[in-house]
Amino acid sequence: MKVEFYRHSLETEDKALLLETADSIFLTTGEVVYDFERKFSAALGNRRTIGLMSCTAALHLGLLALEIGAGDEVITTPMTFIATPNSVLHAGATPVFVDVEPTSGNLDPDRLEAAITPRTKAIMPVHLYGEMCDMRRLRAVADKHGLKIIEDAAHCIEAERDGVKPGNLGDVACYSFYATKNLTCGEGGAISANDDELAEKLRKLSLHGMSKSAADRYVGRYQHWDMEFLGWKYNMNNLQAALLVNQLKRLETYWQRREAICRRYEAGFAGVPGLDFPRVASNAKSARHLFTLWVEPALRDRFLHELQQREIGVAVNYRAVHLLSFYREQFGFERGSFPVAERIGDSTITLPLYPKMTDEQVDYVIEQVLAVQGMLAGTV
Ligand SMILES: Cc1ncc(COP(=O)(O)O)c(C=O)c1O
Repeated sequence: MKVEFYRHSLETEDKALLLETADSIFLTTGEVVYDFERKFSAALGNRRTIGLMSCTAALHLGLLALEIGAGDEVITTPMTFIATPNSVLHAGATPVFVDVEPTSGNLDPDRLEAAITPRTKAIMPVHLYGEMCDMRRLRAVADKHGLKIIEDAAHCIEAERDGVKPGNLGDVACYSFYATKNLTCGEGGAISANDDELAEKLRKLSLHGMSKSAADRYVGRYQHWDMEFLGWKYNMNNLQAALLVNQLKRLETYWQRREAICRRYEAGFAGVPGLDFPRVASNAKSARHLFTLWVEPALRDRFLHELQQREIGVAVNYRAVHLLSFYREQFGFERGSFPVAERIGDSTITLPLYPKMTDEQVDYVIEQVLAVQGMLAGTV
């Protein structure tokens, strides 16, 4: 049996709207994007959303819109994709890592205040694997110290914790529609905000700081545009939005299928010596974006290759960012700097998780994981 790491769930209605949009006159940012933005905002209970080219662009623009730059520090997690701290560097600021919780892999709120300095301007939490950080707690700390929150919600659309969804308590939240995400158009992203003025600024920043978009300029008599400040070129186009907008109606059904798969994995691996996995907090609904297994660090790479041999697609989300060459060389990090993130980074294997997986495929993955664990256990 072969189990790919990921298969998208694009349906006929998504492809039909893509074709219809391709046949229309307006390919760049226009009504299809605005329709997606309104529906996405409504799904999460946020006031405004701006469609962008990627989550990386969203993180970058969030920092710029909140006027975070040279000389400023942004607290974030080393257990994430490099886009998170890289965006802080793109904005000219300095990422400051805080170690993570051993059960979820999310930024550890108990360690947060000790990392705050007079230069700290923001916290950039990541809702890892789809499990939300404790946003009520992070908001309280941020308010106490006058900090902004930029949520990296690349993994997290469908989640909720203590009645809070992504973007509800952050100043901005950033989403990814990259090829393997729960909601995808190949490449894409968005940023949400609950402040209209901030949302307007984000919109303009996504288009070079121009006062009018192409859609605004197109209607009625020609209108001149102005450039109000220096922005970037990060706007989402109608073709991306055409693929995304109808998927929103199916998010919950897809989530239910992923939840069932995760529970099957959890039941299959529970209590097996040498195997562990992150726990979803009891007051939370995880978006269930990635299912990661934590194995003995000394066995991890062999484990990965054994699963590949058995035609199971795997990935590593993630090795701790601070140990990658650039971050080591630039900031002098070493092993031991953030031991919990390092332990997770050394033991992680991401297993296939997507609605199209059949129960037979899930059972095959479980069976093979148990066989590999049995084979490798005791060899170190
Ligand atoms: C946690 C996290 N943040 C940010 C990103 C960047 O997203 P994008 O590829 O849309 O720029 C990703 C993408 O994989 C991610 O997993």
